[in-house]
Amino acid sequence: MSENQKKVWVTGASSGIGKAIAEKFAKENWKVAISARREELLNEIAKDKNIFSYPLDVTDLKRTQDTFKKILGDFGDIDLVIFSSGIYERKLEKEINVENIKQTFEVNFFGTINSVKSVEDYFKSKKNGHITIVSSPVGYRGLPKSTGYTPSKAALNNFTQGIFFDFKKYNVMVTLVSPGFIKTQLTDKNDFPMPFLKSPEYSAEKIYNGIKNKKFEIIFPFPIAVMYWIFRILPNKIYNFFISKFVNR
Ligand SMILES: NC(=O)c1ccc[n+]([C@@H]2O[C@H](COP(=O)([O-])OP(=O)(O)OC[C@H]3O[C@@H](n4cnc5c(N)ncnc54)[C@H](OP(=O)(O)O)[C@@H]3O)[C@@H](O)[C@H]2O)c1
Repeated sequence: MSENQKKVWVTGASSGIGKAIAEKFAKENWKVAISARREELLNEIAKDKNIFSYPLDVTDLKRTQDTFKKILGDFGDIDLVIFSSGIYERKLEKEINVENIKQTFEVNFFGTINSVKSVEDYFKSKKNGHITIVSSPVGYRGLPKSTGYTPSKAALNNFTQGIFFDFKKYNVMVTLVSPGFIKTQLTDKNDFPMPFLKSPEYSAEKIYNGIKNKKFEIIFPFPIAVMYWIFRILPNKIYNFFISKFVNR
């Protein structure tokens, strides 16, 4: 290991986007700590010489804080964190299933907050660092048959933009990642056509480059970015008409 090797902690790294991110950073010679609940998958990924496994359920704040302390102890320091853990139960999203909505918020929103909380003091006292949160552009406006996932990402988008200002005062960068449709076990549950579907490796490439360029928002692919820029500024009347007419999911 070289003295100047950069170090990153990735959550949600047992599969999909998080796994691809971990592998991309390892390939770029970063030292990578990976977390998620499925230990056997983490161990497989950690066969790479630059990747190290730290199993974790992010809904447990104390465990999340202890895991970060352990990584810090092992690695010496951390330059970047990327929080990609998330769940989506497509079948349960069509009704107002209160249990599912609570569970989705517990992982997607509070789990990410637990993760940010666990690095807050470290980055603020170091006066350097980078926090990256994988959310979703679906959080920008309401969508049909998405009673838990979309609202959890709306909250996460808002939280991420808010803490951008708070951490900026400490010279700590905050980045919001807004992927379009990426082929993972999460989207394999979708029973509707997914336009501009991309691979996890494509998303990892975009996220790696966006972080390098210190962007606030990394949104991809380009047609999805354009679509959401338009969606965000449309008046409710036009947005509601368009979604009622053309989004049949
Ligand atoms: N795929 C897309 O099209 C898309 C689009 C926009 C945003 N996103 C977001 O991208 C992120 C990654 O999703 P993905 O598509 O890559 O799906 P995925 O393959 O299902 O990845 C989700 C990851 O989160 C982990 N996770 C779930 N619950 C957890 C918990 N309680 N504690 C710790 N880790 C937990 C999972 O690992 P374990 O089960 O092993 O814990 C897994 O590693 C999510 O936040 C998702 O909302 C995805």
